[in-house]
Amino acid sequence: MDTEGTGTERRVLLGLSGASGAIYGVRVLEALASQPDLEVHLIVTSSARSIIEDETGREVAEIAELADQVWDDAVMESPLASGSFPVDAMAVVPCSVSTVAKIAAGIGDTLLTRAAAVSLKERRRLVVVAREMPLSTIDLRNLTTLSEAGAVVAVASPPFYTGPETVEDMVDLVAGRVLMLMGLDPGPLLRRYVP
Ligand SMILES: Cc1cc2nc3c(=O)[nH]c(=O)nc-3n(C[C@H](O)[C@H](O)[C@H](O)COP(=O)(O)O)c2cc1C
Repeated sequence: MDTEGTGTERRVLLGLSGASGAIYGVRVLEALASQPDLEVHLIVTSSARSIIEDETGREVAEIAELADQVWDDAVMESPLASGSFPVDAMAVVPCSVSTVAKIAAGIGDTLLTRAAAVSLKERRRLVVVAREMPLSTIDLRNLTTLSEAGAVVAVASPPFYTGPETVEDMVDLVAGRVLMLMGLDPGPLLRRYVP
């Protein structure tokens, strides 16, 4: 792995935060892990851990093995906390409205929120997949702030015109769009829909 950022590999960072819809983040991670020449960094917040296990029935440790490098959200001593460490794209999937609020307010008191702040200040691609329903005016204002600051705000809302037949189909549609928004090939996730 090229931790100095001097190689040709692209580097991406995926954050899984403590919102429902953990399956979306896991699917994005699986899709990133299957891509060639992609160095995948992962941060799982402490709130996300139990939600991932409850909603997917999978151990976080097993899921984390898909990443090239896993970082502790509570430990700031990581190159991801610095703008001098090149990262091509970051996504937070799912993103709780608490994490949305922190990023919008410029609070970087965890590695995930700091890395998101770095993405914004370095004008890098940041995709935030918010998951809450309904959204308060505060949430909407925070999402607007993120969008104005350059983030791509997505919602975990699969389309139905494609005729999804299973929950997995619906998850793949959202995960595939996330990959596209990260500037990556969605591969088989959207193969049925993207020529
Ligand atoms: C079972 C469960 C489901 C939750 N679902 C959501 C959700 O869908 N969206 C959300 O914004 N917060 C949700 N929360 C609340 C967040 O987990 C909580 O605000 C947490 O502090 C977020 O921390 P994090 O963003 O650092 O992971 C949920 C909490 C639990 C226990």
